[in-house]
Amino acid sequence: MPVVNMHDMLQHAHREGYAVGAFDLVSLDFLQGILAAAENCRAPVILSLAESHFEYFDFTTIMPAVEAAAKRASVPVAIHLDHGASFESAVQGIRLGCNGVMVDASTHPFEANVARTREVVDMAHNCGIPVEGELGYVAGVEGEDAERHPGEVRYTEVAEAKAYVEQSGVDFLAVSIGTVHGRMKGEPKLDFARLGEINQGLCIPLVIHGGTGLSDDQFRQLIENGVAKINYYTALADAAGQCIRDNAGKDSNCGYTGLVSGVAQAIQNETERCIKLWGGEGRADEVLASAAAQREIEHVIFYNTKGIDKDKVEELMRIGHDSLGKIPGVRRVFTGHALTQDARFKHCWVIKFSDESVVESYKNHPDHVAYADTHFRPVAGDRISIDFESAD
Ligand code: 13P
Repeated sequence: MPVVNMHDMLQHAHREGYAVGAFDLVSLDFLQGILAAAENCRAPVILSLAESHFEYFDFTTIMPAVEAAAKRASVPVAIHLDHGASFESAVQGIRLGCNGVMVDASTHPFEANVARTREVVDMAHNCGIPVEGELGYVAGVEGEDAERHPGEVRYTEVAEAKAYVEQSGVDFLAVSIGTVHGRMKGEPKLDFARLGEINQGLCIPLVIHGGTGLSDDQFRQLIENGVAKINYYTALADAAGQCIRDNAGKDSNCGYTGLVSGVAQAIQNETERCIKLWGGEGRADEVLASAAAQREIEHVIFYNTKGIDKDKVEELMRIGHDSLGKIPGVRRVFTGHALTQDARFKHCWVIKFSDESVVESYKNHPDHVAYADTHFRPVAGDRISIDFESAD
């Protein structure tokens, strides 16, 4: 099953009146539990990786597993960078396989929020990747007691929301209407009138952060008022924590595998409860029919060099590897020599792009233009270049 375009996925949810869960994962138990829940419910799902959690796992190491599991799933999946702090975070997320990114500039004043978000939007759209921005401020810390991190909740202003979306170009808007990240005492008061006005003014999928602790009725009203993506983490972490405490209580000598036994199942149970509550159950086939698959491209160049020795060829490759690999939308750079002496071409580049739109943005990127004009083309006149899409 392909990873599907997150814009299409959330447009479907917004149109049809349900919300897709964006479940933050911090380990393979989370990955397995969340995907098993989505498959059991035949629901679309978003695997979400929050930058604030990168102290608990290595983002670069976990992403190949996340991507492989997503591609193997029998339901439509999107992979999202949650609370990306910077332009560089977004570029890295896309490189590692995220097909949706959030840029969180919500602590900045309006103009600075728009400017930082716009920069990410322009880059990400060139890579075929949709962007979530946040206006207003949702306080708290995922996985902790909300009251330990009171912060200042700033509600999203209705008038500002329209200007923010127009000026920043975001595809989805995270709104602040009274939720907080983390564990809450009692039920938060949500401003549904404000949410309804924002929804009517914008008509784009809205996002709620701080899903943990809301009542069934609050979820229903959120979705009725345009929320198509709900971020959820603390309750999954608490279910996992309870499972580990129970295991320790039953056998105080048990080792790691004994302690974490059943954790994936506990996460699955809570994820399934949410998916059913938010209306995603049974939607997988409709989403697959209406959402484009994320189409990665292999940009392939075969070439021979003229007028440079072996060391210079190696240097040409090294310089290209370093500079081309940093261009947004480039996921991997392979450069190599033909194994056989009589090959028509002696060398190649195989460069993986996140999406077809990168063919154009890569070609025009200043780092590519500089490398091609200064280093590559003068010595590699004998070459062919072809972009391939996957036949899977
Ligand atoms: P909770 O941890 O409160 O569920 O919020 C998660 C979240 O909003 C992640 O972005």
